[in-house]
Amino acid sequence: MLIANPHASLKPYPADLRQIMNMAAAEESLRWLSAWDRMSSEPTPIHDLPDQASRLGVAQILVKDESVRSPLGSFKALGAPVALLRLILRRWPAHDIDPTQLIRGAYASLVKDFTVISATDGNHGRALAAAAKSVGCACVIVLHANVSAEREEAIAAYGAKIVRIAGNYDASVEEAARLAAANGWEVVSDTSYDGYEDIPRDVMQGYGAIAAEAIRQLRAPVTHVILQGGVGGMAAGVISYLWERYGEKRPTFIVVEPRQADCLYQSARVGYPAKATGSVDSVMAGLACGETSPLAWKFLNESVDVFMTLSDDDAVAAMVTLAAGGARDIPIVSGESGAAGFAGLAVLCADPALRQEVGLDANSRVLLVSTEGATAPQVYRELVGESADAIIAHQIAHQTAYQTAHRQRDV
Ligand SMILES: Cc1ncc(COP(=O)(O)O)c(C=O)c1O
Repeated sequence: MLIANPHASLKPYPADLRQIMNMAAAEESLRWLSAWDRMSSEPTPIHDLPDQASRLGVAQILVKDESVRSPLGSFKALGAPVALLRLILRRWPAHDIDPTQLIRGAYASLVKDFTVISATDGNHGRALAAAAKSVGCACVIVLHANVSAEREEAIAAYGAKIVRIAGNYDASVEEAARLAAANGWEVVSDTSYDGYEDIPRDVMQGYGAIAAEAIRQLRAPVTHVILQGGVGGMAAGVISYLWERYGEKRPTFIVVEPRQADCLYQSARVGYPAKATGSVDSVMAGLACGETSPLAWKFLNESVDVFMTLSDDDAVAAMVTLAAGGARDIPIVSGESGAAGFAGLAVLCADPALRQEVGLDANSRVLLVSTEGATAPQVYRELVGESADAIIAHQIAHQTAYQTAHRQRDV
């Protein structure tokens, strides 16, 4: 299902939004995080997929691969860690803390009795737990019933205390808030609520680094950007940067999400942050969110041209296609939520009316973000039919063959 957002317009980035998120703060976040030993020192690669582009009838498909951002396997390494740094800086203003030393544990004795807590569907909690361990503070993570055991283990590996509840993601958000209030802990959430905006803003601001890097990597601006949404934070962080940079000349923005967790689609329908209408249970675990982040919605409301929903089968088909690669396309390990942008593109391109509605044609250059690799390796293997390690081996073989072919051509 697709909805053209009636509030979207091509106008310069508004001054009131720039007060909240801006390119300078995104660059600063990236600079701070580059001191973290769990972060790749290189920008994540952008893969050009010419075979898929000609199959889908567009000029270029560019996939920014966040699976290699850090050993955490997802873009979430850009969010919670920087929000934790900014939180500690605000809490101890007199200590003149250097954030690049803070993330290396230089202030561990100062923060040892400080506890942060968050609900998560996996990736955010893993990033927060890893950052808390590096900084030297304590971390509690609340997991809802559908978070897999392997995702739980990955979080616990960073020393976080795990609290498991019976309800869904939204119930886990409430439980985290309750535990924080009862124990004097700080919630580090990626979603905002009434009176709670500073931390989710810092999380979203960190995600802007994806756009900052992409602009430096691309030879020419893209025409379309397709982003996947959970609560909307990742899309808001990336879009805010691109909107500020390109103003009225910004690309077309399309946001996709699971049919059963359609809170952003519903928000576009009614014009304010809304709840999902479905079961909020999807194979796209990172996108299975029932409520739009009101702060994220401030950025999406007037910038996202089209919202669309996807079936779980669409996402799995996209994972399989990206993993398979092609004669010229490098195989990519893209997890259930990571492949959703490509799934959206494939659904749009398969229908001439939808293609026309979103302006996709033979001149379109489309940027996608594969937001995670195999963050749940068993699930990945079951869905794709091969392990992530096997796909990485195909990737390396492809790179070697491609480089050899180019050397031969050059000679
Ligand atoms: C892999 C992945 N992609 C995308 C998202 C969506 O991000 P947001 O909830 O900020 O919209 C998430 C959220 O957890 C995720 O884990």
